[in-house]
Amino acid sequence: MTNPDHDYQSAHEIGKIFNSLLDRQVLSEFFLESARNLVPADASLLFLVGSNEQIWLEAQTGDPGKPTVEIEREAHAVLDKGHPALDGRSLFVPLLARNNPVGIACFFRKPGEPVFERRDLDLVFDLASQAASALKNLFLFEENVRMARLAAIGETVSMVMHEIKNILQIAKLSDELFRRGIKDKNQKFIDHGLEGMSKAIHQMDGFVWDMLSLTKDYKIECQKVDLKVLLSELEQDLSGKAKQLEVKLDFRAEDGLGPVNADNRSLYRAILNLAQNAMEACGKDESWVRIRAKSCDSESYEITIEDNGEGMSPEVKGRLFQAFFSTKGKQGTGLGLLIASRTFHAHHGVVQVESELGKGTLFKVTLPKNPS
Ligand SMILES: Nc1ncnc2c1ncn2[C@@H]1O[C@H](COP(=O)(O)OP(=O)(O)O)[C@@H](O)[C@H]1O
Ligand SMILES: [Mg+2]
Repeated sequence: MTNPDHDYQSAHEIGKIFNSLLDRQVLSEFFLESARNLVPADASLLFLVGSNEQIWLEAQTGDPGKPTVEIEREAHAVLDKGHPALDGRSLFVPLLARNNPVGIACFFRKPGEPVFERRDLDLVFDLASQAASALKNLFLFEENVRMARLAAIGETVSMVMHEIKNILQIAKLSDELFRRGIKDKNQKFIDHGLEGMSKAIHQMDGFVWDMLSLTKDYKIECQKVDLKVLLSELEQDLSGKAKQLEVKLDFRAEDGLGPVNADNRSLYRAILNLAQNAMEACGKDESWVRIRAKSCDSESYEITIEDNGEGMSPEVKGRLFQAFFSTKGKQGTGLGLLIASRTFHAHHGVVQVESELGKGTLFKVTLPKNPS
């Protein structure tokens, strides 16, 4: 003799497990298995209900002995009525979450087996309502993930368009200047036009590189990199912006550091992103940004990017590496640090941040000399 209280108790315990499952298929199969333990059945099927009352077979155990389409039709009819159907060899139980159908479970027994009884229905109904609320939560969770993805796509597209438009604007103006220079035989215009176009190409190249490092299968390609050369290129690239922002740049790579194994372009873009942030954080008189590269030991080297700029609040420090997090409004993409950290992690490196509001910020990047 089974104890009905005990069965209800275990249905309740199983319900708790339902809520912890985050995979719809696993939850559906687990529900059918648990139901079959409570009310033995030779076969069981679970149909889920989508929008516009469309149903589909999500999970099945055993052979019900009749075509699925026929069962589906019966399941539909039961769902339309909105309450369970008990018919000796078959048991149809709607999964209702706050009175809304989420699915319908169907159980079958072969001829010769005992018929389903009212008690079986009650037991499964209890379990079904717990599975229904877990499934409903899962549907909402999936919907949230889809919406978040859609929002991220929208945000990415608008950021990409904004950036491309800016670069195109430089290219267009430079092109005009160049053409006018040719027409008027004005060498200054020609030079400025060419310089602008080369700047636009350079920017576009960097932007594409940054975007590639955000893709799912981003891989680095390591080669011998001379950090001294990399830093002096960076200094040259940033000198215009430094002048404009009145920031004193100070780049130094330790003597005898030797070449390191790294992805030259990616590493360059990552340090550039950190250096740009450091410069953008500066605003007061006598602002400076110091970039240093040195060897820590035979295994690793360290790059530090330090500024005496505005520093960060604990909230900014905590959200720093989140995609699209920026305190710069339209001027920021909120992707620079994400790109940089992905690159450092791809090199098996570690990034640490120390920052004090009003005093400045230090990013310390430790990288292995030979990332495997
Ligand atoms: N050196 C720094 N000093 C102060 N704040 C910083 C510094 N570096 C990054 N931040 C903060 O982190 C945010 C995210 O940086 P990032 O991912 O590069 O995006 P963006 O520069 O486009 O805003 C910045 O908006 C800024 O608030
Ligand atoms: Mg940035």
